[in-house]
Amino acid sequence: MPDQKPPQDGVTRRSFMRTVGLSAVAATAQAQAERAPSSSTEDITQFGPDPADITLRINGQAHRLRVDPATTLMEALRWHARITGTKEVCDRGSCGACSVLLDGRLITSCMMLAHDAVGKDITTVEGLARGDDLDPIQESFIRHDALQCGYCTPGLLMASKALLSENPRPSFEQIKKGLSGNICRCGTYTNVFNAVLEASGQEPKRDPEGPDA
Ligand code: FES
Ligand code: FES
Repeated sequence: MPDQKPPQDGVTRRSFMRTVGLSAVAATAQAQAERAPSSSTEDITQFGPDPADITLRINGQAHRLRVDPATTLMEALRWHARITGTKEVCDRGSCGACSVLLDGRLITSCMMLAHDAVGKDITTVEGLARGDDLDPIQESFIRHDALQCGYCTPGLLMASKALLSENPRPSFEQIKKGLSGNICRCGTYTNVFNAVLEASGQEPKRDPEGPDA
């Protein structure tokens, strides 16, 4: 797009995303989001600049939403579908608070456009429980008091769920590495790691490098 100027100092990522064309937005998001997979837009034949109707499959249910092309998946979930367990913190792919599963794979939903999630199975923290029965990882978080303010907790639960799906019995080091994309400002890591250990049938322990060692 030869007429487009690069973003200047003081221009936020959000305003940048809303003022450039969709192809540039998609390229930027793709480059920045290690977790975000390539995706299809099967039933979309025309993009923007006006909002368009899309259907997102969230926790097994179809949601018809009217979103503009720059709307991220996180925004579509929270603001359009009103499914607010997914949290917005950094809005730039660095904290993991907005983590969801896309076809079973962990992604940061602030780094993916809603249009690119069409045709995928999206699982948010609301989709972990079965009725009144919490997922075992949720039960384990509660038993180990693995939260304080709770703002990072939905993302950590989704990351833990993804980790245990890939590796049902991860080592302590694998747990730390697997959850390293999720930042907890309250410092609940020791209890989170213990919750994952117990959910995978292993004995909880103290982080030998942690504050409680
Ligand atoms: S809000 Fe998406 S990674 Fe921080
Ligand atoms: S519990 Fe507060 S940010 Fe993690």
